[in-house]
Amino acid sequence: MYLLYQFVACFLLAAGFSAEASPCSNGSPPATNSTPSNVPLRILPLGNSITWGYLSSDGNGYRLDLLNMLTANGTQVQYIGSQQSGNMTDNYNEGHPGAVIDEIAQYAQASLPDQPNLILLMAGTNDMNNDNNTTTAPDRLGSLIDECHNATMTEAGSAVIIVAQLTPAANNATEERIQIFNAAIPGVVAEKVSVGMKVLSVDMEAYVTFNDLKDGLHPNDYGYNQMAKAWYAGVGEANGKGWFTAPVQLLGP
Ligand SMILES: *[C@@H]1O[C@H](CO)[C@@H](O)[C@H](O)[C@H]1NC(C)=O
Ligand SMILES: *[C@@H]1O[C@H](CO)[C@@H](O)[C@H](O)[C@H]1NC(C)=O
Ligand SMILES: *[C@@H]1O[C@H](CO)[C@@H](O)[C@H](O)[C@H]1NC(C)=O
Ligand SMILES: *[C@@H]1O[C@H](CO)[C@@H](O)[C@H](O)[C@H]1NC(C)=O
Ligand SMILES: *[C@@H]1O[C@H](CO)[C@@H](O)[C@H](O)[C@H]1NC(C)=O
Ligand SMILES: *[C@@H]1O[C@H](CO)[C@@H](O)[C@H](O)[C@H]1NC(C)=O
Repeated sequence: MYLLYQFVACFLLAAGFSAEASPCSNGSPPATNSTPSNVPLRILPLGNSITWGYLSSDGNGYRLDLLNMLTANGTQVQYIGSQQSGNMTDNYNEGHPGAVIDEIAQYAQASLPDQPNLILLMAGTNDMNNDNNTTTAPDRLGSLIDECHNATMTEAGSAVIIVAQLTPAANNATEERIQIFNAAIPGVVAEKVSVGMKVLSVDMEAYVTFNDLKDGLHPNDYGYNQMAKAWYAGVGEANGKGWFTAPVQLLGP
């Protein structure tokens, strides 16, 4: 299995994908008795400005910290997405400042064809902040999960989708809406799991508090690092369920 994953990863790298560190660039065989190798992850960070990394001092948001944690644990990581933000090398993402759930669903079309095997989905903060049709927001999130699942269905399996229960907001009215939305997310997730999708949620409010915000809505550097820990815990949970399948090879230029 190890060699197969390694082979697929090398194929993808050779096919022009970027990655933070290439295990096969020098052509030598993978080292033995090093850190156990997990399934390589082709990650689509999908969401709004918080995914994009707004107000983090390096622009990477949670993405660099998460990459470092996964890499240190023996997982090869590649980020994908039509956007690039932050000063890290592999700074691809599908984070769109200001985007509401329906807009994120549109933007996702740009990168779902690249067949991520892990989607980190955080959507709804702008819907809550704008007070825009918040009661039906869980349904819109559910449709977005369906879209992600449908687009990544292959013979090998579908992408793991980790859905964030939103980080907090300092504004009291926004925060009340966020808490109602967050409370609905486990139910949405359970419904998707019941029909065979590989979806789980992570509770960002358990990691990021009001004190960890830069402007009352976006995390500060500490908050973004906390988000990375939350996503990492979600990845570990998905690993424990044996959910990850190696990224599929793409036919392409
Ligand atoms: C990225 O930005 C941060 C904050 O300005 C800086 O400390 C770090 O050295 C930069 N990293 C790179 C690779 O440029
Ligand atoms: C809420 O949704 C309805 C119909 O889905 C739409 O007409 C309305 O404009 C939305 N509200 C806002 C603030 O966009
Ligand atoms: C409001 O929500 C609808 C979906 O109900 C979405 O299509 C629209 O883009 C949103 N508008 C704003 C300003 O948040
Ligand atoms: C996902 O696929 C199912 C089954 O083909 C279909 O009923 C549903 O409308 C699709 N949903 C989205 C959002 O693509
Ligand atoms: C918002 O303010 C009200 C009144 O002060 C308080 O009862 C409520 O707990 C606050 N909600 C949040 C989410 O802080
Ligand atoms: C870290 O690696 C171990 C050993 O392969 C694995 O069991 C665990 O799920 C990994 N954790 C994460 C968060 O990937």
